[in-house]
Amino acid sequence: MPIRDDLTCVKVEIDDEGIAWVTFNRPEKRNAMNPTLHYEMEEVLMALETDPAAKVIVITGAGNSWSAGMDLREYFRETDNNPEAQFTSFTANKHWSWDILHNSRKPSIAMVNGYLFGGAFVALANCDIVVTAEDAVYGLSEINWGIIPGGIVSKVIVDKMPFRNAMFYSMTGRTFDGRKAVEMNLADIAVPADKLREETVALARELMEKSPVALAFTKQAIRNVVNMDVPQAYEYLMTKIQALQFMDKEKTRNRGMEEFLDKKTYRPGLEAVSKEEDS
Ligand code: COA
Repeated sequence: MPIRDDLTCVKVEIDDEGIAWVTFNRPEKRNAMNPTLHYEMEEVLMALETDPAAKVIVITGAGNSWSAGMDLREYFRETDNNPEAQFTSFTANKHWSWDILHNSRKPSIAMVNGYLFGGAFVALANCDIVVTAEDAVYGLSEINWGIIPGGIVSKVIVDKMPFRNAMFYSMTGRTFDGRKAVEMNLADIAVPADKLREETVALARELMEKSPVALAFTKQAIRNVVNMDVPQAYEYLMTKIQALQFMDKEKTRNRGMEEFLDKKTYRPGLEAVSKEEDS
């Protein structure tokens, strides 16, 4: 499914290496998420899911903001008295930022370049890896608007952050920076802003070295066991590992064993398994 070239709130570019750069593109509104942005993100992520050229998805924001959260005018106030419009835009929001991103088979990286507020925490939480500028500004500002962190925000922050921090920052609405986001497990790596893209590209290249199907199964496994008890997780993972061997047409596991045990050309943990075709 090709991506339209007349999107107004999201910019997409797939580079030669296979990094799909998805940019929230309303810099004049600090990339606040209006209904159009939600519809376009749904369309874009569905298209990337089935585009073999897109190997890693990087989500970032134009200008000095990742996203200032939900658009208070267009997403909230203008739909207050229009239940149909509210339902469609709220559903689109949940669909791309939770269902599609959470279940995507492609690795996703949030590259946090600046402000990140409120409802944007859901997309952040559903990216697999987060690289942030040290000076990015995060805020659970809902309390300052007289609302709660809704739209699943409360749920994703207690799942990701230590409970005390989730409570503190959502009750006070105080902001915190990228370093603190790493300390609280909201982000993986914090770097100076001028190194953000370089660090993200290096990480994307590292992921592209892995077997794509093993990577997809790994992220599904990690996400799904969170809500399982040990017996369920054991059964699920035993089945999943067998399914992976069936799905991995490149037989990465067999090749890795052969290279390590027989040819002595590969040491796991130090190198990715080679991607040569099976002989
Ligand atoms: N919804 C709607 N519009 C927003 C917005 C939001 N969440 N965040 C920013 N904007 C708009 C502003 O209204 C302004 O529009 P205008 O030029 O038509 O007046 C424009 O984006 C620029 O915002 P401004 O506040 O001038 O930029 P800034 O760089 O000084 O500050 C922020 C950036 C993100 C700190 C500030 O805009 C802000 O606090 N936004 C609200 C963040 C928030 O609480 N989001 C959660 C909502 S639940």
